[in-house]
Amino acid sequence: MAITVAVPAQQVGLALISSLAFLRGRALSSVASKSYRLNFDKVVAQSTLSGVLFDGEGRRGNTVREPCSKSRNLCAYATSQESLRGPTQAGPPSTDGGLVDTSPPKGTRDFPPEDMRLRTWLFNHFREVSSLFGFEEVDFPVLESEELYTRKAGEEITQQLYNFEDKGGRRVTLRPELTPSLARLVLQKGKSAALPLKWFAIGQCWRYERMTRGRRREHYQWNMDIIGVPGIEAKAEVLSAIVLFFSRLGITSKDVGIKISNRKVLQEVLGRSTIPQSTFAAVCVILDKIEKIPRSEMEKELAALGLTAEAVDTILQTMMTLRSLDDLGELLGAENEAVVELKQLFELARGYGFEDWLQFDASVVRGLAYYSGIVFEGFDRSGTLRAICGGGRYDKLLSTYGGVETPACGFGFGDAVIVELLKEKNLMPDLSHEVDDIVMPLEEQLRPQAAVVAARLRSGGRRVDVVMGNKKMKWAFKHAERLQAKRMVLVGSAEWAQGSVRVKDLSSREEKDLPLEKLT
Ligand code: HAM
Repeated sequence: MAITVAVPAQQVGLALISSLAFLRGRALSSVASKSYRLNFDKVVAQSTLSGVLFDGEGRRGNTVREPCSKSRNLCAYATSQESLRGPTQAGPPSTDGGLVDTSPPKGTRDFPPEDMRLRTWLFNHFREVSSLFGFEEVDFPVLESEELYTRKAGEEITQQLYNFEDKGGRRVTLRPELTPSLARLVLQKGKSAALPLKWFAIGQCWRYERMTRGRRREHYQWNMDIIGVPGIEAKAEVLSAIVLFFSRLGITSKDVGIKISNRKVLQEVLGRSTIPQSTFAAVCVILDKIEKIPRSEMEKELAALGLTAEAVDTILQTMMTLRSLDDLGELLGAENEAVVELKQLFELARGYGFEDWLQFDASVVRGLAYYSGIVFEGFDRSGTLRAICGGGRYDKLLSTYGGVETPACGFGFGDAVIVELLKEKNLMPDLSHEVDDIVMPLEEQLRPQAAVVAARLRSGGRRVDVVMGNKKMKWAFKHAERLQAKRMVLVGSAEWAQGSVRVKDLSSREEKDLPLEKLT
């Protein structure tokens, strides 16, 4: 609940003192029951004369804030601690010293420390898995040329661009995905890049999207891509990486499945009807909405591409009813390329040991125009979340940018849906802010000696927090507990005169004096 204390300016001082006392009491009692994080700086009073919010020290600020989850989910993953979020969402940023909106732009997130810890943990897994598969990390600018995304197949992504003209009159956009940037870099490297390239990237993407659970206007994506391998083995490698990632997080094939298909299936079906192959990408984009829009709507959109009612019916029937490789084999013939590729992939998956994660599903075509062969999407088996990850083969993308046609495949894996899944499965890691040692000078004039101790410990690789300001011992021990410190190192004049410091082991509660040269 938001609390604003509104009183005339002259009474603010008095009211503030009693309000703070009251609110501190409330906040402290919440600690026991709800684990609120305390931030008394945000307890404010409002002057009705100036309309300005300020805190006890005269700083401008916001009102006492609501938990993230109850407002617009503005913290990155809205993790264990409920953040304090104000009701004041309105109003442009102020430049005249008035109240500023402290919320980030709609659909974007702040990463306070607790969310940043989770993000770092997630990204570390992304990086470690990529490195276990021998991939190298790359990065691209968040701002890209708009022309990289001006595709004409009616993809949603191209209508969701954060695009604008820069001061030099160039059309630019915040990147909605990483694949076009990767293709651009491959082209730029040209012949100097020895194929195959195995690249991974973790980057922020921007899409002006309707927000639903796990879908935001910015998200981070982990991508792994292999450039220059035409065979199914490349696809199997990246799928195996995804499965390893899930397994490391405790997610099993009972929680998540990966729907697989091959765009060549649709190409075959289109080839058998009188449908021009040129409409292929646009048909895929429409079919990708199979679970999002009613059949009648899809029929209308396909008809608008010039498809006959009979062709539309054939496509939809095939996509919606084909659920096994055997059925597919019967429809297209066992020697058909799409069937052969899928069978090879399932065989390799058996070898890697992740076959139970895969599920053939002809309705998966993916909504991006550039995919050409096998495509896939990770989904949660309880059916409550949007796609967890997705990818496929995109052999023609480089040639659409003027390069030579080059086999390529990979996937994108977002940071938002996976966190929703971890929460649902009770698999969220316990990540607290940790240090090893707290160093405390017992007198202010011993601060230089405390600095010597801290520097020595840090150079030995220990994480050290030095107590700053004039704090009491009780505060320091509470602080140590909060940071889950292992030791308290006290710098006192008597011990220092002996060349020692007092070291207290915070788990055993034992303490002893240690000569500085033995302190590690
Ligand atoms: P995509 O399916 O558009 O594919 O996105 C990949 C993943 O990014 C999704 O499965 C989801 O986890 C995440 N994602 C996408 N949009 C959002 C959003 N608005 N909010 C939160 N998460 C989102 C691509 O982007 C392809 N470029 C992937 C690829 C790489 N294909 C080959 N290589």
